[in-house]
Amino acid sequence: MQPVRKAVIPSAGLGTRSLPATKSIPKEMLTIVDRPIIQYAVEEARAAGIEVLIFVTSRGKTSLEDHFDHQAELYSVLQGRGKSAQLAQARSSEIAAGRYAFVRQPEPMGLGHAVWCARQFIGNEPFAVLLPDEVFLASVPPLKQMLQAFATTGGNLVGVREVPLHMTNRYGILDPASDDGHIAAARDLVEKPEPDVAPSRLSVIGRYILQPDVLDQLDRQPPGAGGEIQLTDAIAGTIGRQPLHGVRVAGERFDCGDCTQLISANLAFSLRRPELATSVRAAAERILSDAVVNDIQVPTARVA
Ligand code: G1P
Repeated sequence: MQPVRKAVIPSAGLGTRSLPATKSIPKEMLTIVDRPIIQYAVEEARAAGIEVLIFVTSRGKTSLEDHFDHQAELYSVLQGRGKSAQLAQARSSEIAAGRYAFVRQPEPMGLGHAVWCARQFIGNEPFAVLLPDEVFLASVPPLKQMLQAFATTGGNLVGVREVPLHMTNRYGILDPASDDGHIAAARDLVEKPEPDVAPSRLSVIGRYILQPDVLDQLDRQPPGAGGEIQLTDAIAGTIGRQPLHGVRVAGERFDCGDCTQLISANLAFSLRRPELATSVRAAAERILSDAVVNDIQVPTARVA
């Protein structure tokens, strides 16, 4: 079986769920604790042994490139001041030269189209896709869990988790032919079905291991749900040529396009950082227990 060496990180979305913050800041640069959301996807990919990262971006996203770059000026200032811990922190987001590429998706034509934009850089080998909005707190990083399952399934593999029936219309949903409680073999995959027609409650999380056939399928994939070229449809289109499985991924998932979940992710991740856990817990408990929230008027309206 060919190894999975490359990962695509689609990062072209407008971030309309996080306005006004994302008016001038890419949504991928919003932070969880002290690093941008996108860095968690990169760290997850690295932990799974991925060697090459392909980011698909759009206009206004150049800060992503800068974040992963070598920042000589900053490093020399920190070095000159003897700030070695900060220097190490700054360097921790660097990706080695030649190990990453940025490609543009010129128009927002859907997730399938975004992945297709990376096709020349993927070539003819299996690849991973990580949607950076979804961040996981897990003892084994989700993509690593998936690669373990992929060693037995091959073909196309999607990460899945069960969602309540009323939420099937937000996700790709698997139609399982068999299911051992960990891995399900699928006969179909449907993008955002309404609950009354959903084939199951097994929803696709933003983690995929795909065969290059999916790129060929995307070459001729017409628009699907929402008028967009859907990755889900292209994966479904290869069934028959490629087996499709879904693997349940262990861990807590945070959809960081959702305000509550982004706040929850900040809390959960900071409570797992030894140098922050005690002070964050104390602050959270104080805010929850006393009058801090109730007594102070927080302006929510636009400043006149
Ligand atoms: C995309 C996919 C969907 C998947 C979801 C996971 O949808 O199209 O199949 O379940 O990501 O987050 P989006 O969230 O971009 O609408």
